[in-house]
Amino acid sequence: MNIYEAIKQDHDIQRDLIARLLETSGDTKERQELWSQLRKELEVHEVAEERHFYSPLIDTDKMQEDARHGMAEHHEIDELIQELEDTGMDSPHWLGALKKLRDKVHHHLEDEEEEFFGKAKKVYTQKESEELAAKYEKSREEYKKGWPESIPGSDHEE
Ligand SMILES: [Fe+2]
Ligand SMILES: [Fe+2]
Repeated sequence: MNIYEAIKQDHDIQRDLIARLLETSGDTKERQELWSQLRKELEVHEVAEERHFYSPLIDTDKMQEDARHGMAEHHEIDELIQELEDTGMDSPHWLGALKKLRDKVHHHLEDEEEEFFGKAKKVYTQKESEELAAKYEKSREEYKKGWPESIPGSDHEE
């Protein structure tokens, strides 16, 4: 397993949860559970990915811009998550907010998979990409166990 495969696996989980959430309606148990799962997946993925994919790239000439761009998009995703949290699930606006989040997340995952992975393969050696995957997966499990308090800078800490 390399870092690209590890990240891609989690992206697929996110895409699947979003698709399933789009099929839900109203303030139902199903929507609540899927939303909680999606939120956890997105937040945990962001922090683990920043630590073990983006952070080392910030120091490189080749990918500093891309790494900054990717992390800025994480911030935008966080804001859309907050918007959904602030909107009642039984409100007609909830689905619209979810669609905005879907568009942003799909765009972001595409940037990573279609563009950043290819560039990162010129920066990370095969061995490094395997070591990063192991670290990424370990972090992901730790953040998941302690979620939501485990997420640095999250509003859960306030
Ligand atoms: Fe990302
Ligand atoms: Fe990602």
